[in-house]
Amino acid sequence: MIDSNEIEIVVAGEEHVQYVDEVLDTINKAAKIRGTGIAKRSPEYVKQKMIEHKAVLALYQKKKFAGFSYIESWSNKKFVANSGLIVAPEFRGIGLAKRIKRRIFDLSREMFPEAKIFSLTTGEAVMKMNNELGYRPVTFPSLTDDEAFWRGCESCVNFDILQRNGRRMCLCTGMLYDPAEHTAHDDSTDKI
Ligand SMILES: CC(C)(COP(=O)(O)OP(=O)(O)OC[C@H]1O[C@@H](n2cnc3c(N)ncnc32)[C@H](O)[C@@H]1OP(=O)(O)O)[C@@H](O)C(=O)NCCC(=O)NCCS
Repeated sequence: MIDSNEIEIVVAGEEHVQYVDEVLDTINKAAKIRGTGIAKRSPEYVKQKMIEHKAVLALYQKKKFAGFSYIESWSNKKFVANSGLIVAPEFRGIGLAKRIKRRIFDLSREMFPEAKIFSLTTGEAVMKMNNELGYRPVTFPSLTDDEAFWRGCESCVNFDILQRNGRRMCLCTGMLYDPAEHTAHDDSTDKI
């Protein structure tokens, strides 16, 4: 039985690059099981996120990999996305994703206070957590128009649907947290 108190969520740094392969392996295995496409991430890319402190890592008993997520910025830092959320199978169902989401969200707000934070997902768990953090569903034109972001969809199994719809809709739900819609008081009362 896993004791959640023994799982610590840390902002990643150079000392964590040893976890890159395990992070990517866990993400890729989960994507295969879900049968969804996935934006391709190279080990160098994830390593760079860690070095820039734009990632959080959950570690069990200070060393075993338990979960991960990182920050990406788009449209000249006007938009930020929290990507690559993964919880290792043995640590699921005990509220860890919720803790990781909260930590990476807070880190995004600290690093990019003016940015809109968005999410594009088919995952019900993620939609639920985003909703609790103050995101609302939006149509795709409200998201970043940064070509580099949308190129990430090219490796998705549903890319033809996105293309056919002129990038206005697809199977993912777009969600947005606009800081302009939230006062400091609202932020402090978010549930997770
Ligand atoms: C999705 C995932 C991150 C959830 O991690 P977790 O640590 O088990 O999630 P939590 O225990 O923190 O649960 C958070 C909430 O999501 C809900 N949830 C968890 N898994 C769910 C699922 N498969 N379907 C629907 N809701 C789910 C939980 O009930 C909880 O809601 P609550 O607050 O009402 O109780 C994990 O299963 C995972 O890594 N999956 C593979 C990768 C993936 O799908 N990533 C998301 C990419 S979009």
